[in-house]
Amino acid sequence: MGTPANSDCAVSPIRLRVNGRACEVPTAPDTALLHVLRNDLELNGPKYGCGLGECGACTVLIDGMAARSCVIPVRAAQGRQVTTLEGLGTREQPGPTQQAFIDCQAAQCGYCLNGMIMTVEALLRRNPQPSEADLRSELHHNLCRCGTHVEIMQAAWRAVQLKAEAAKALPAGTSGGAA
Ligand code: FES
Ligand code: FES
Repeated sequence: MGTPANSDCAVSPIRLRVNGRACEVPTAPDTALLHVLRNDLELNGPKYGCGLGECGACTVLIDGMAARSCVIPVRAAQGRQVTTLEGLGTREQPGPTQQAFIDCQAAQCGYCLNGMIMTVEALLRRNPQPSEADLRSELHHNLCRCGTHVEIMQAAWRAVQLKAEAAKALPAGTSGGAA
């Protein structure tokens, strides 16, 4: 028996721009962005933690702002720039914020680090010279069950320094964090 055109199972492709690349994903529009990123686009930087928007493990950037992809329907990301951890750099050439967390060995299990890195990245894109209070406030709602908060704060400060150095190295009129 054929499937009716207006069946609840029918899905239209959703068009996204992720890490600077256009892609089309056949999925229901209410599917969580996190599931599309991980299951359809094989971008496993963002992690599934609570699934409720409370832990931050799934954080991505949407138009440069930190967003919890487990509670955002994929339709809400259409026409916007989505950046995942993979969009900040590569294993061979990590971005400054990624490098900062490597330098400071700010992981125990590492499950929370996607959220920590993406949250710091979002802050530094809009405020390259944050105060201690700014950093603490930004990371306040990102959970780390391993308790590596001291190292995470050290990494956040290192990211401030490395982002500033990277910005100085750019030719005038350009900016980092394009994806
Ligand atoms: S998995 Fe999204 S906030 Fe916890
Ligand atoms: S390092 Fe394990 S949850 Fe943060």
